[in-house]
Amino acid sequence: MAFHITKAVIPAAGLGTRFLPATKAMPKEMLPVVDKPAIQYVVEEAVAAGLTDVLMITGRNKNALENHFDRATELESTLAQKGDTDKLSKVEYSNTLADVHYVRQGDPRGLGHAVLRAKMHVGHEPFAVLLGDDLIDARDVLLSRMIEEAESRTATVIALLEVEPEAAHLYGIATVEETGTDDVVRVTGLVEKPPTGSAPSNFAVIGRYVLQPEIFEVLEQTPPGKGDEIQLTDALQTLARTGQAGGVYGVVFRGRRYDTGDRLDYIKAIVQLALDREDLGVGLKPWLQEFVAGLD
Ligand code: UTP
Repeated sequence: MAFHITKAVIPAAGLGTRFLPATKAMPKEMLPVVDKPAIQYVVEEAVAAGLTDVLMITGRNKNALENHFDRATELESTLAQKGDTDKLSKVEYSNTLADVHYVRQGDPRGLGHAVLRAKMHVGHEPFAVLLGDDLIDARDVLLSRMIEEAESRTATVIALLEVEPEAAHLYGIATVEETGTDDVVRVTGLVEKPPTGSAPSNFAVIGRYVLQPEIFEVLEQTPPGKGDEIQLTDALQTLARTGQAGGVYGVVFRGRRYDTGDRLDYIKAIVQLALDREDLGVGLKPWLQEFVAGLD
């Protein structure tokens, strides 16, 4: 039976060590991208794709996340008293976005382990997983396209991005076959961060997945892999190899994606997004041009 997908799982329990000390007391998903925490972009994306039930997998320092998606009564009444309706609506917006639930991961034993923590909440339904590291431009379509394919094929669907061969060692890379649909490929194998020169293709896995509930049994059987962590990629590789639960398909994304998990890419993402903003681009662009012209 084909299910209508309504649940989104957002793992946010990683240690975020690349961003220390900023992430000492705050999850990296709360780092601001211009003026919104990264995780808010991700929740907005899920809601825009029709997913209204959001489960966050949290770890240490979860309070900032919970508070962000909750009422802030003192702040709200202060802004209301001042008549600052613009700022008030910004504060209220994040707690009206979706029905947000939380579950703790305990020890961060890998992305696969984090997804496994969603088993009770998700039940026997397909669901989406969105990583806060990858921001997909709201003007470009990805998640709803993936959901469409997962629903019609009753299969697992991952998001793929064509990367330069020199960058392939930074990603999970898929071995693919054509399907006859321009933006959809069948995934026959996956390898996590292949050594330079050994990648089977240029199709890199990015942080959006639509998973079938069978993934939970596969994850339970998946031993720790790279970094001694339970890797989602390893479980997906099992599904791709065996064709279990409808097999694995990839939607090839050709839109704008911002990688905020890496410090340099995070800075680039902020500059790119701020330049596109009506309220900030006008001031930032001439300053940036002048600044760049003054560089050696
Ligand atoms: P990353 O590997 O990018 O996150 O995981 P990290 O481990 O926090 O980052 P660094 O390398 O130490 O800086 C991708 C996503 O999976 C989540 C992270 O929060 C991030 O959103 N994750 C990762 C978990 O929820 N639990 C884990 O055990 C690992």
